[in-house]
Amino acid sequence: MTKLHILSNRLPFSVKKNDEKIELIPSVGGLATGMKSVYGQFEGSWIGWPGVELDTCTTEQLLEMNAMLKEEKCIPVHLTHNETLHYYEGFCNKTIWPLFHYFTQYAEYDAADWESYVNVNRKFADAALSIIGDDDYIWIHDYHLLLVPQMIKETKPSVTIGFFLHIPFPSFEVFRLLPWRMEILNGLLGADLIGFHTFDYERHFFSCVRRLIGYDITLNHINAPDRLILVDAFPMGIDYMKFHESSRHLDKQSENEKSDFTKQLEDFILQSPDRKLILSIDRMDYTKGIPHRLKAFANFLQNYPEYRQKVTLIMLAVPSRDEVEHYQLLKKEVDELVGKINGMFGDINYTPIWYFYRSMPYQNLVELYHACDVALITPVRDGMNLVAKEYVAARTGIDGCIILSEMAGAAKELGEAILVNPNNDNEIAEAIRQAISMPADEQQERMERLQDRIKRYDVFKWAAEFVNSMHKVQHLQSEYNTR
Ligand code: ADP
Ligand code: G6P
Repeated sequence: MTKLHILSNRLPFSVKKNDEKIELIPSVGGLATGMKSVYGQFEGSWIGWPGVELDTCTTEQLLEMNAMLKEEKCIPVHLTHNETLHYYEGFCNKTIWPLFHYFTQYAEYDAADWESYVNVNRKFADAALSIIGDDDYIWIHDYHLLLVPQMIKETKPSVTIGFFLHIPFPSFEVFRLLPWRMEILNGLLGADLIGFHTFDYERHFFSCVRRLIGYDITLNHINAPDRLILVDAFPMGIDYMKFHESSRHLDKQSENEKSDFTKQLEDFILQSPDRKLILSIDRMDYTKGIPHRLKAFANFLQNYPEYRQKVTLIMLAVPSRDEVEHYQLLKKEVDELVGKINGMFGDINYTPIWYFYRSMPYQNLVELYHACDVALITPVRDGMNLVAKEYVAARTGIDGCIILSEMAGAAKELGEAILVNPNNDNEIAEAIRQAISMPADEQQERMERLQDRIKRYDVFKWAAEFVNSMHKVQHLQSEYNTR
């Protein structure tokens, strides 16, 4: 029977070691949360890294975690300390991540990191090759595994390979900075189907293939010497009904059923009827524009003193890649800015920013989406941004406003949000004022349109379209080969 396997650096569950005890916790990030929703539909395994270093585990712990992961249909690829250092923290997060998000000044080009990237990609390819049948499908995800398509295609050409990039694909002028640009492009071109979140990323990719490899491109087909490769935009959606229904459930709860978290939020809102809550949720990442956002909030309080005491920013930042220097520097900058702004505008009764540096359980996220009047999402660069879509899905009162960066892939679909340039603090401050004073009927009109769209193209539709295109590419390829 034909199977569809998933391959990504991070599994949907990460292993946490509490003293000697092993625990599986849900992984954070768009890839893990999105794919976890659809994974159950596929016959096949999910192959990936469980998030701990092999050298720090005892044999018993390894056996235990492998067994726990097996129950979740996950196959672990274990990485050593040296591999996480050079492949994950190094090439993935000090080279590709900053470069593809246009942080060219942060990108490091280190030969040892590259070597490790090649070796670890080989390790993932071998893990996949050991379980996939000749006619199976494999769906490879994200920037950690750009070489794997070619590695699999060379060994098992009959396998249909899909690749989806969850981050932006940069313009040619940026991509060409990469010393290993040819290897990366050739690695990707081992896939039969390549998907991006937006048409712009697809266009940048085509431009790089044309200019660096010289392949001919017709519409969205790359005419490689041995086969046709299909490239398309698949804007990733969310599990709309899950967020919407969880939020509706909150509407119907009796006083006794409410969680402490909800009660505390409600008490806080009740203290002052014209109080407004603004929500900001991200991984702590320099691409998310958190310092600019904080400065914009300070500008807002400075420019519109009448809103002091009345507007609170709830800022959630989940720890991410904290071994990498630029992430440590960011954390320090954010801590200082929050302290400064709270010191400047706060008093005994008013804390302008509530700042949480931790992951939150799903239920609390929904409670926050449900309670907050405005979502302030201003990444400097973001492949998609699922938080924006989750906020839309959780607005059961059909009100609420989103302030969204033009630089997020989601801005292409969420035209009814207040779109801002994330580098323009004054524009964001003005957008905050516009959002909190927007008439209810305008909020509803915008929100209804947003909800219709996000509901229609949810994560299940997204996955189904990607998988259908994997079927389609097989037909296109056989026509191409008989020409
Ligand atoms: P990225 O993939 O870059 O992290 P996205 O916005 O696309 O950005 O996806 C982030 C995902 O992680 C969302 O599904 C969101 O619900 C989840 N998430 C973000 N912050 C937190 C947090 N503090 N606690 C729990 N989950 C979070
Ligand atoms: C982004 C990437 C994912 C990654 C996630 C969390 O969403 O596109 O591939 O899993 O961030 O980052 P981490 O480094 O913790 O896996």
